[in-house]
Amino acid sequence: MTDAPVTIVIGSAGRRLYLIDWFRAAFDTLGLSGRIIVAENDASSAAASYGDETRLLPRYTDPAYGEEVLRLVDEVEPRLFLTANDFELMQLHVNSGIADALRDRGVFVPGVSAAWQVGCADKLRMAQMLEDVDVPTPKTVKGSDLDLLTDVGENGEFVVKHRFGSRSSGLAVVTGGDVDEAVVNSAKSVPPRADRTDPRDDVVVQPRMPGSEYGVDIVSSLLDPGPLTGVFARRKLRMRAGESDKAVTVDPGPFREASGKIARAAELSGLIDVDMFLDDQGRASVIDINPRFGGGYPFVHLAGADVPLYYVSQIFGIPIDEGWNQYEAGVISAKYQETRVTARGSQEISDSSTAVEHT
Ligand SMILES: Nc1ncnc2c1ncn2[C@@H]1O[C@H](COP(=O)(O)OP(=O)(O)O)[C@@H](O)[C@H]1O
Ligand SMILES: [Mg+2]
Repeated sequence: MTDAPVTIVIGSAGRRLYLIDWFRAAFDTLGLSGRIIVAENDASSAAASYGDETRLLPRYTDPAYGEEVLRLVDEVEPRLFLTANDFELMQLHVNSGIADALRDRGVFVPGVSAAWQVGCADKLRMAQMLEDVDVPTPKTVKGSDLDLLTDVGENGEFVVKHRFGSRSSGLAVVTGGDVDEAVVNSAKSVPPRADRTDPRDDVVVQPRMPGSEYGVDIVSSLLDPGPLTGVFARRKLRMRAGESDKAVTVDPGPFREASGKIARAAELSGLIDVDMFLDDQGRASVIDINPRFGGGYPFVHLAGADVPLYYVSQIFGIPIDEGWNQYEAGVISAKYQETRVTARGSQEISDSSTAVEHT
């Protein structure tokens, strides 16, 4: 063990305690004395007290958020600032632009370019960006532009979903004749947005892709963004709360070409999670990109991939062999539930009328 502890910050890990475990394991493997600071908004979340130290950050919507992140970074001097939350990524890379300020301080902030970060949150824009770089993706139109959806036969199947959604929000699968009604229904639950007049503008419609659905993690170097250094794929066997719940690892070959194009165009550094379909001819098309560790990473990690080890080795300049991007195909894993105490002496009254949080 070297003496001086090295520090990383993991933000909004929420329920993903395995990420903290696997970064700890990476420090151990490389013989580093590492300190993991968990930054959360909710002091009693499962992850908040699971790191070596906890720091509370304001909500991402709070104007003080950017300033507080910089204050935290100046205090603890991490080499990596990682977050598993889409809203926090948007704050870091786009709204506050502090991802660049962090990089100027020598902190690695994995992710995609600001333009792709915006695209990842907007399914209409993403479809356009993917088409522009020749990555197959279903034709995507706004709920208010259904006349652009050619070939709407009565029996063709379509997917209706929230344009800025996540975790399958506003999702419906319908046949051609029912698209109008499904758009109106989905539009009822879109969140409010300034300057938007027609809520159907925030709903998108796509043809339903044939074939099976896969989750693909694609990885680029933190030191040299763009070129691919890893592609890991699993076929989704069961979904729960918008996340893969059971999956089987598969050969990444069919996904490599689309992954390479995305990584290059998005100036990728680190890992992102991509939803793809594979048709009968083995052609991949992309339906969704989550620019962070997604809920599907555990399935490839448990089959042998090790992205936390790759990150730590790159950041601290300790060479490792290529084993980190190898995994075994045909491994099935399933998630399960755990619970841990996250606060004591709380004054919360059990029958209080305060609202229960639904996530
Ligand atoms: N065009 C499509 N064809 C087939 N299935 C789809 C399509 N779009 C979405 N789905 C299904 O709906 C799920 C959620 O859609 P997705 O675009 O990934 O949005 P998000 O994960 O952001 O809610 C997908 O995982 C997939 O199972
Ligand atoms: Mg998705």
